[in-house]
Amino acid sequence: MGGVYRAAYRVALRRLPPEAAHAVGFWLIRAAAAVPGGAWVLRRFLAPRDPVLRVRALGLDFPGPLGLAAGFDKDGHGVAGLAALGFGFVEVGTVTARPQPGNAKPRMFRFPAERALVNRMGFNNAGAAALAAQLRALRGSRPIVGVNIGKTRAVPDDAAIADYVTSARLVADVADYVVVNVSSPNTPGLRDLQAADKLKPLLGAVRLALDEASPRRRVPLLVKIAPDLADADIDAVADLALGLGLDGIIATNTTISRAGLRDSAAVADAGPGGMSGAPLRERALEVLRRLHARTGGRLVLIAAGGIESADDAYERLAAGATLLQAYTAFIYEGPLWPHRLQAALAGRLREDGPGRR
Ligand SMILES: Cc1cc2nc3c(=O)[nH]c(=O)nc-3n(C[C@H](O)[C@H](O)[C@H](O)COP(=O)(O)O)c2cc1C
Repeated sequence: MGGVYRAAYRVALRRLPPEAAHAVGFWLIRAAAAVPGGAWVLRRFLAPRDPVLRVRALGLDFPGPLGLAAGFDKDGHGVAGLAALGFGFVEVGTVTARPQPGNAKPRMFRFPAERALVNRMGFNNAGAAALAAQLRALRGSRPIVGVNIGKTRAVPDDAAIADYVTSARLVADVADYVVVNVSSPNTPGLRDLQAADKLKPLLGAVRLALDEASPRRRVPLLVKIAPDLADADIDAVADLALGLGLDGIIATNTTISRAGLRDSAAVADAGPGGMSGAPLRERALEVLRRLHARTGGRLVLIAAGGIESADDAYERLAAGATLLQAYTAFIYEGPLWPHRLQAALAGRLREDGPGRR
């Protein structure tokens, strides 16, 4: 039965262009959750309930370690349905201070043979204020929602801090945690903000903005980094995060590398953008290991990049991740995948016996 469902899902998926498939799939998830009792039924069968999966981090109780990575639900339209599928948390965004359309289509490309995607969406989003309103209107049981913020493309680099600060203020009271995204390859100049001399004032200003906008609840703050950073730069970000009292680091965003993609004509046709999925796995794991060695449990590390199986998930946890995120495997494997992965992961964790986590 599972095999039939998966085959049908793949056939349906491949008939549509990638962004249209995303829109249809996401609409179906939202529709299922909007039917009276729909979200309840999905949650009942799919949400993680095994105590071995629970994670306490960032002052929050996560029902399971696997979250949906940023970029799938940029404007927070489907968090209830997505969480009902089994994600332990949902990271919305990237949002920017001003709404913007993103890059021209096509801007998302599939590489099914390698289970990879290339995208240059360019932060298409309705803006941080619209996201805040969307999250404020959530009723019923609210899943853990992180908000990922980036720079408005039209804003010049020397005004980047003010732009992030505007977003941070707008989302402070609706975000369970906030992520400063300085690692998307699709906004010119953005990744230069990862250099310590630029990152320090940026993160300091966002921290202050969150504290001012949310005086009663300290909003956890994380930074999301690229897998393309040199090792010395990874260490510098880790040191900075510790020095500034950040709560964690997300490793990693997409890569500008195309290593692992065999069809060079298709690669050339796709053009620039960030690659995600299986070919990113090894580098993302390497970055995670480096961060863990440098920070030694003092930060929450959220692993992302090519997580497809319970073995991948287990390996990241063993390498020092507290939480996990995925996007590309969800696209290829379909709506039952978060549940499947965590059910298998629970088995792996149980084999370890009590006390591992
Ligand atoms: C189509 C697409 C859009 C994405 N948009 C964002 C984004 O807006 N902000 C962000 O921080 N990461 C974004 N990402 C990166 C993912 O959040 C994740 O870090 C990356 O894809 C690696 O995980 P994966 O291999 O499981 O996909 C996007 C990824 C994809 C495939």
